[in-house]
Amino acid sequence: MVTLNSLRISVTLMMLVVAFAQAGAAQAESIEEKAAVCSTCHGEKGVPIDKVTPIIWGQTEGYIYLQLRDFKSGARANDLMQPVVADLTKDDLKALAAYFAAKPWPDLQQPSASKDVAAVALSLNTSVGCTGCHLGDYQGDSTVPRLAGQQHEYMDKTITEFRDRTRANNPGMSDLMIASPLDGLKAMSAYLAGLQILGNSDHGSR
Ligand code: HEC
Ligand code: HEC
Repeated sequence: MVTLNSLRISVTLMMLVVAFAQAGAAQAESIEEKAAVCSTCHGEKGVPIDKVTPIIWGQTEGYIYLQLRDFKSGARANDLMQPVVADLTKDDLKALAAYFAAKPWPDLQQPSASKDVAAVALSLNTSVGCTGCHLGDYQGDSTVPRLAGQQHEYMDKTITEFRDRTRANNPGMSDLMIASPLDGLKAMSAYLAGLQILGNSDHGSR
């Protein structure tokens, strides 16, 4: 039998549930709001507006967070990214990383590398072992970035900047890039740009 008291309790519980749902929606909205500015350069549908801007949709979550942190601290210097993250908190950066990692990786329709270029890239991988860290098919995981299908010109630029240490946030990667032949690295970014997409990002669930 339903008493007046138990009715009151269930009405109160319902109001609590609604209040929590609204609080959740407000928070989700504010992350979407914070993410809106990113689209002006990284693209509405994840396709960056220019060729030296990287894809961040579907990039690995740990990697996105570390880059945002490094832009904020200045360890990775960049005039466009630094002001964007300057006023964001660590929690904002973590939420943005989770938000973009959960998006589908866009297909930029970059051409596949020729057989000759692919052969040079594959032989570089045999000697350096890129896939030892970037994983099979260069899909990345956790704090290691996905490279398959990334912007060709952006990869050339960031490889050059690792080599001259303009990109100074990971000295180990700089050492490795400096030790690798430049023609091999050029072939590698052409090869990676044209690599097929195996599916949407599921990094969050791995
Ligand atoms: C004014 C343009 C602009 C805006 C706005 C912008 N970015 Fe960027 N972002 C760039 C450029 C350009 C780079 C490449 C920097 C470099 O060459 O080192 C970059 C790099 C990054 C990277 C590193 C990716 C990688 O593969 O190393 C991440 C992560 C990132 N941005 C996330 C964001 C997020 C999140 C926002 C919004 C809070 C944002 N960006 C807003 C232009 C922008
Ligand atoms: C020991 C592990 C390891 C190996 C081997 C390795 N990488 Fe990386 N690579 C990383 C990590 C970790 C990062 C992220 C660095 C950072 O935090 O800025 C990275 C970053 C990169 C980036 C920048 C991606 C972006 O979005 O800005 C490129 C390009 C890259 N690696 C290419 C290569 C190539 C090509 C090889 C082989 C010649 C290679 N890597 C070998 C671990 C590795």
